[in-house]
Amino acid sequence: MTTFKKNKPYNSLPLLPPKIALETTKVLRKTIEASRALAQLNGRLTNLPNPTLFLDTIHLQEAKASSEIENIITTNDDLYKAIVADKKFDNPATKEVISYKEALWNGLKAIENRPFISTNLCIDIVQSIKKNTAGIRTTPGTALKNVKGETIYTPPTGETIIRDKLENLEAFINGKGTIDPLIKMALMHYQFEAIHPFSDGNGRTGRILLLLYLKTANLLDTPALFLSEFIIKNKTDYYMKLRNVTEHQDWEAWILYMLEMIVFTANKALKRLNMVTELIQVMSEEIKISLPKVYSKELVEILFRLPYTKRQFLIDAKLGTPKTIGNYLIELEKAGFLISEKIGKEKLYLNHRLMAILEKN
Ligand SMILES: Nc1ncnc2c1ncn2[C@@H]1O[C@H](COP(=O)(O)OP(=O)(O)OP(=O)(O)O)[C@@H](O)[C@H]1O
Ligand SMILES: [Mg+2]
Repeated sequence: MTTFKKNKPYNSLPLLPPKIALETTKVLRKTIEASRALAQLNGRLTNLPNPTLFLDTIHLQEAKASSEIENIITTNDDLYKAIVADKKFDNPATKEVISYKEALWNGLKAIENRPFISTNLCIDIVQSIKKNTAGIRTTPGTALKNVKGETIYTPPTGETIIRDKLENLEAFINGKGTIDPLIKMALMHYQFEAIHPFSDGNGRTGRILLLLYLKTANLLDTPALFLSEFIIKNKTDYYMKLRNVTEHQDWEAWILYMLEMIVFTANKALKRLNMVTELIQVMSEEIKISLPKVYSKELVEILFRLPYTKRQFLIDAKLGTPKTIGNYLIELEKAGFLISEKIGKEKLYLNHRLMAILEKN
């Protein structure tokens, strides 16, 4: 029997997989729904002429939302300006969001080389999020508190115990087994958060792992999901369901919650993707008609890589001499496609219709 006490390190946290029947009718039904939603999104992404085009934007949106859960708040406008401008932005929240995005990016690179989610990968991720050399917790004292300051959960203590539990988690994630990969995803996320291997950044690391896992499980080749947006909207529920696994072994409600997160975010990503691809088509036609000399497919792609662009991006893409490109941008602005803003010594150009889609809801 596992004994759980809020104030005592939960060293008896059970290893995975749980020893109860997980694949109930409700869970299986929801698994089918989630798989279908994901497959639809994945298919749509694979069929895009240039599936990597939106990646920077998507990753930044996810980084922004995930950091908001931690109360690191930045606006879309600040964030994208900071990414594109040479001028250094001192807003700490923006910096943190950019670190998060880099952590996600590095994680993706790592699993492309080796599709394996390991303890070391988790450490790399938390280090890039936190921009420090923190590792597995070695000293006791980490506890999760509610808003009133009461301890609601004390994770396992002792480096050896933590590492053992991570080793079990690693074997579970990468092992073959017969559990559906989406159910596995739910189990692994609970377990990672319950082990809580680091003194901070466990939530953000755990959320990056979700996206990396979907890729290694071949469920989503391009990580274009805004999982964190769902968690922010349902944060109380998220915390409560985690607790109910610990306190009442209520795995079913937890798994259903995680599957609903997949359904909701996959459908939403699909909708956004359709809106952006439609806008690309519309704007391409409009530019072709009103500014035929300026139009090229490459130019439009650059205008859609991130909401802000600048002269240098077009020069780097070899779309013309600096002078020609300067004229292109003037004409695009005059025709209302872009809005310029001076930031430090340079001018940034906003694709305001793309930003409007990102800002929606
Ligand atoms: N009762 C609980 N049991 C296990 N894990 C929990 C519980 N409540 C919250 N958590 C997890 O702990 C995370 C917070 O831990 P930590 O502060 O280390 O991470 P973070 O990335 O800094 O924060 P955040 O997730 O708020 O952005 C939450 O996101 C959640 O995943
Ligand atoms: Mg924290």
